[in-house]
Amino acid sequence: KGKSRKLAKQSDVEIKQAAVLGAGIMGGGIAYQSAYKGTPIIMKDIQQDALDLGMGEASKLLGQKVKRGHMSMEKMLGTLSKIKPTLNDSDLQSADIIVEAVVENPKVKQAVLAELEKTMPEGTVLTSNTSTICIDLLAEALDKPENFCGMHFFNPVPKMPLVEIIRGAKTSDKTINAVVDYALKLGKSPIVVNDCPGFFVNRVLFPYFAGFSKLVVEGANFAKVDKVMENVFGWPMGPAYLLDVVGIDTAFHCTGVMADGFPERMARADKDPVTIFANEKRFGQKNKAGFYKYE
Ligand code: CAA
Ligand code: NAD
Repeated sequence: KGKSRKLAKQSDVEIKQAAVLGAGIMGGGIAYQSAYKGTPIIMKDIQQDALDLGMGEASKLLGQKVKRGHMSMEKMLGTLSKIKPTLNDSDLQSADIIVEAVVENPKVKQAVLAELEKTMPEGTVLTSNTSTICIDLLAEALDKPENFCGMHFFNPVPKMPLVEIIRGAKTSDKTINAVVDYALKLGKSPIVVNDCPGFFVNRVLFPYFAGFSKLVVEGANFAKVDKVMENVFGWPMGPAYLLDVVGIDTAFHCTGVMADGFPERMARADKDPVTIFANEKRFGQKNKAGFYKYE
């Protein structure tokens, strides 16, 4: 309320060029948002299909803006040209900050981060978009953990204002300030939080998913639960649909980390639907089948 206010710039590290590793649901969204807000971004994946999907989604979102008269065609093409898709690590060299957004697996993330630290110029800010994995665990793979922290966006990135910035035990203030500034540049509302499995938001969200899974195991109909949460309780989407949006594979990895971190509170239910669907490779909207089927 009152006069509009802005946070003063915190950092002396200027982010002129960003990069994101992984062009999936999150990497694609981060690339779009960075380009839309004016910071060029390199988007690296190991699969050409993923890069094509990421670029396709960005074109679609920008195309909608042109259609509604919110953006000129020239601005749209200029924005799209700020995203550079690539399969090559060597294209990352000019990045001042890298957001790692690959699969939610600590070993894969550690390997990717260690390789980046080895190959990138000294002082490059490294971040991870991990949903749940402790930043200090990922930092064990690094020689310079002071340059690393969590940068946790929410799905869908273009619409969700919050970014959690997670301070590891050895993260420097310089790194935190640079990442806060980049989040502000992206038009987001950053909060700086301490490290633990799930950080702040997923310590709230995953117990909710666990409660929902238990209800289903006990015989509740998932679609009815969604209907109540959406139509009567008033949330934008119920837990089953939200799990399909997040990705059942990602949710499965996250529930594993949370169950290990908080065994007394977050143990997986026997035969819980997330585990069953993950084993059946029903990953949600990303492959058109999860709790629901998609066209
Ligand atoms: N990507 C980009 N834009 C999207 C989008 C998507 N996936 N989905 C919707 N939008 C855009 C629409 O294009 C539309 O754009 P305009 O304003 O330009 O018209 C706008 O959002 C509004 O769309 P709708 O009218 O359909 O939807 P809404 O405004 O009622 O709600 C929403 C959109 C805010 C995303 C809402 O659906 C919502 O809050 N969903 C829940 C999302 C959520 O809980 N996310 C957290 C997931 S968990 C996580 O991220 C953490 C983790 O670690 C797993
Ligand atoms: P996704 O499955 O949609 O995409 C992952 C991408 O990473 C794939 O395109 C894959 O090809 C790519 N990849 C795998 N190994 C790679 C490597 N070595 N180098 C480059 N790319 C590689 O997953 P997602 O939903 O975008 O999740 C990515 C990260 O973001 C995870 O850590 C997840 O926990 C986190 N996250 C997800 C959500 C969500 O709602 N989906 C929200 C917040 C955070």
